[in-house]
Amino acid sequence: MFLLNGERRHCVDVSDRGFQYGDGLFETIEVFQSKPLFLPRHLKRLQKGCERLLIPLPELTLLEDEAAQLCVGVERAVLKIIVTRGSGGRGYRQPDSIVPTRLLGLHPFPQYPDCFQRDGIVARFCEQRLAINPVLAGIKHLNRLEQVLARAEWRSDDVQEGLMLDYDEHVVEGTMSNLFFVKNGVLHTPLLVNCGITGIVREIVIDFALCNNIVVCEQQFDKQSVLAADEVFVTNSVIGVWPIRRIDRQCFGVGRITRTIQQGYAQAREADTKL
Ligand SMILES: Cc1ncc(COP(=O)(O)O)c(C=O)c1O
Repeated sequence: MFLLNGERRHCVDVSDRGFQYGDGLFETIEVFQSKPLFLPRHLKRLQKGCERLLIPLPELTLLEDEAAQLCVGVERAVLKIIVTRGSGGRGYRQPDSIVPTRLLGLHPFPQYPDCFQRDGIVARFCEQRLAINPVLAGIKHLNRLEQVLARAEWRSDDVQEGLMLDYDEHVVEGTMSNLFFVKNGVLHTPLLVNCGITGIVREIVIDFALCNNIVVCEQQFDKQSVLAADEVFVTNSVIGVWPIRRIDRQCFGVGRITRTIQQGYAQAREADTKL
């Protein structure tokens, strides 16, 4: 089910700059019991992305209303919001008057086995690197070629996520998730100033840790620091918090802090459902 600029259709004009250049942004949101979860946080990141790319943000109340309209009676799904610069302009040059395109779509919620949450997943380091670009870092823009190439590096269902480094050998995030690790009781997560997406769940996890006396260290780390961790986990809006039980040949236990964070996220999710 789709809403394109408020109407029930989904055929975007081929001249749309989102299609031509990836000139736009997106949000992927969990829908539970008719409610798009953590919507204000998603809209805030979308707003920041629009400001960064100089795209006029559609009215937030309009996006909220349309999201609510699509989610009526939906038990569980994934809501994707795409905002592009719309059509027009000559080549890369933007049109003088920008009319953004907004597309909201509902997609089936992926069914992952319970053991991913409970026992953890297997991850691998990817060869494909993330380019350093502070202007594009943090936002969820439409150009995801690095993630697509990284995800093409493996086909086996025995591996659930790939971890990506930048060209300075810093570990940044997963192909579809943010990365955390615990060492000596301290929660570590890569600083996302050069590349990567500042995830909504990442934000919730950091807020929860800070409120629960878990020290958080946000800085740049190399591969060895991650492999030397006591606990490792990845996060995103659809998977929630997945512990990692193995990266390449290195095994990890699912530790106390990971369990506490999983509970914290479950509580935040439940509280948001009832809002
Ligand atoms: C590359 C990448 N990083 C991080 C995330 C996590 O973002 P969020 O927690 O907002 O879902 C995603 C989610 O799709 C992603 O694709």
